Parts: sequence; C-alpha cells; structure tokens
Amino acid sequence: MSDVLISPSILSADFAALGRAVADVDAAGADLIHVDVMDGHYVPNITIGPAVVKALRPHSAKPFDVHLMIAPADPFIDAFVDAGADYLSIHPDAGPHPHRSLQAIRDRGAKPGLVLNPGTPVQVVEPLIDLLDLILVMSVNPGFGGQSFIDSQLSKIETLRAMIDRTGRDIVLEVDGGVNPQTAPRCIAAGATALVAGSAVFKGAGSLSQNIDALRGGVGRAAA
Ligand code: DX5
Ligand code: ZN
Repeated sequence: MSDVLISPSILSADFAALGRAVADVDAAGADLIHVDVMDGHYVPNITIGPAVVKALRPHSAKPFDVHLMIAPADPFIDAFVDAGADYLSIHPDAGPHPHRSLQAIRDRGAKPGLVLNPGTPVQVVEPLIDLLDLILVMSVNPGFGGQSFIDSQLSKIETLRAMIDRTGRDIVLEVDGGVNPQTAPRCIAAGATALVAGSAVFKGAGSLSQNIDALRGGVGRAAA
C-alpha cells in the first residue's frame, strides 16, 4: 500500500446527499475532500458555490481541497476561504494575474494550488512555484467526471516531480481525472503524491473504503 493521499471528488456523489457523502468518504479513509467548483464559463458545466462548501464543512474535519474552475477566480477567493477551503486551487489561465491570485489565497491563510490543464505547458509553474503548496495536473479536460485518463500527462507529472524536488519544499503533486486502480500506480510511479478520484471512489466496484484502498494499491475486495 502506498502512502499517497486520496482526495475523493464529490462531483460523483449524490448531490441530494452531499453532507452524507463527505462524512462517508471521511470515514472510509479519505485524506482530503475534493470539491469541484464550475461556473459554466471557464468550463462547460456548473456545480457548486461557496454556500455549499460552507454547508459541507461541518461534515468532515479533513482538509477541503477546493478546485476552482471559474473565471475570474479573484472575486470569490475570500468567500471560498471563509467557507472552509484549506487548499484553494486556481487555473493560471482563469485570469490575467495568477501570481496575484495565489498571493491573495496565501494572504487569506489558505494553501494555494495551481492547476494545469492537459494543454497547459509545465513552464507556467516556474515563476509561481514559491507561492504553491499544491500543483494539480489535470489528466482529463476539466468539466466532467467519468472521462478517460490522458496518458501524455504522465511525463508532465515527472517533470513537475523534478521541479518540486529542486525546491526542497513539500508541495503536494496531485492528479485529477480518470484516476482508477489501473492508472493510479502509473501516477504514483511518475511522482504524484495525491490522487483525486470521483468515479473510482463513488461508482467503483466495492465499498467506499475498498475503492479508496484500491487506489492506494491495495486489492479492493469485491462488494459484499
Ligand atoms: C473534472 C474534475 C474532476 C472530476 C474527476 O473537471 O476536476 O475532479 O471530478 O472525476 P473522475 O475521477 O470521474 O475522472
Ligand atoms: Zn477537480
């Protein structure tokens, strides 16, 4: 079993019972709770806002890993931090000043993250890395759960692993999209330290804890 962090994406949970879903994945062994925020503008889907994050906050003491797929992000940073985001991640192309956005997140006391789409070059990280506590590599194009893992992102993970190691800092290297028991070991081998999974956790073959264990490299038992 690896000690990779597992961050279940509640995008694949029952939206009519999100509080229960957060509590259930917490009890099942999640390390983080991944919250996908979409605006129908930066990505072609709409999900949830800060009021829902605030309502979910009491349902788990685990860190909330909030992934903003919104443009602009800056007007909402305060609201998401106030709602209880621990990690707050932005896409660098969601606004003209990603450095300012990351600084604002840090100034508010949350941990800044930067998200790279499959088409985003890794070089965008270099001038921002000192501000980062998390780098999120999208292994699908953002907007929807249940898509297939894009293999070409593995070399990006390897490059980022080397960049992070050069800093000597403990920056989480997370992968999001199409992560399942088949693709997870490849992400870990490439240097990922955290895995987001929606379908594989909430719609996998076993119980929530079996599905989470399977991502860590355990043999998920069949559902009873
Ligand atoms: C996609 C989201 C992902 C999504 C992953 O835009 O950022 O977090 O929930 O879903 P799966 O694990 O089903 O690919
Ligand atoms: Zn996400």
